[in-house]
Amino acid sequence: MQIRKARETGFCFGVKRALKILEEAIREYGEIETLGRMVHNQQMVDNLSKLGVRVVENLDHVRGNAVVIPSHGVRPQVIEELKARRLGIIDTTCPIVRKAQLTVKELSEKGFGVIIFGDPDHPEVKGMLGWAGERGIATLDAEVISKFDKLPRHLGLLSQTTRDPAQFAHFANDFISLFLPRIGELRIVNTLCDVCKRRQATAMELARKVNLMMVVGGRNSANTRCLAEVCSSIGVETHHVETAAEIEDNWLKGRGLVGVTTGTSTPDQVIQQVMVKLKKIKRSLDAA
Ligand code: F3S
Repeated sequence: MQIRKARETGFCFGVKRALKILEEAIREYGEIETLGRMVHNQQMVDNLSKLGVRVVENLDHVRGNAVVIPSHGVRPQVIEELKARRLGIIDTTCPIVRKAQLTVKELSEKGFGVIIFGDPDHPEVKGMLGWAGERGIATLDAEVISKFDKLPRHLGLLSQTTRDPAQFAHFANDFISLFLPRIGELRIVNTLCDVCKRRQATAMELARKVNLMMVVGGRNSANTRCLAEVCSSIGVETHHVETAAEIEDNWLKGRGLVGVTTGTSTPDQVIQQVMVKLKKIKRSLDAA
């Protein structure tokens, strides 16, 4: 059995940047609170908690004088609320997410309705939607939009940054065939993250060559889930694991080549543990 790791793994620049800002905040404030998780990775959240980082789900739970906004960003109303409460704001919103938010804002200010291709429950999408005021909808299914009997004449269509480009194109096609006769103008803006696009492309390239793919990352991580979907969509057996402990020996029996890829919020320490475990299983299978 051979094991091959994808060309790019581990944190993306947006996560690295956010963690660097957080480190500086820890140095300045000691204990610090983040509004939601910094990254969708339990191991990382546990590590940060040992350094004095506390996750709060809403502003009423804030005890300190300053709050960290995670890389997923927040609604503008949250920023206003933080200012009204005179809390310090340490903003780690990823520049790619910020650009998507500002695109939503600009479209909305020009009178466009905004449709976001994304998971309505994901913090990044909730944040983006907030920049559309009353003029936004987030969904993964174009059919859902038919529930709104009055569509604005001018519409902007964007994506959650971590989505698969092929799925976004598919959604845009569905939208056009269902609704184009009912609207006057449609602007499609590419808000997809290049890091995710590259990682999906290299994961697919690897998945085509191997007998089994291992996708390592948080279960709630949108980009990790997307990687697992694109790998399994090409027909290769794919396992999404959060930690090395979840890997079962029998998955690897009789496999010639195993591929490994990771989400953009998966810590190097977790990737190393996965590689160590895979090599250990390989040794025992080779010896059998
Ligand atoms: Fe930003 Fe893309 Fe990472 S949106 S946080 S660089 S996955």
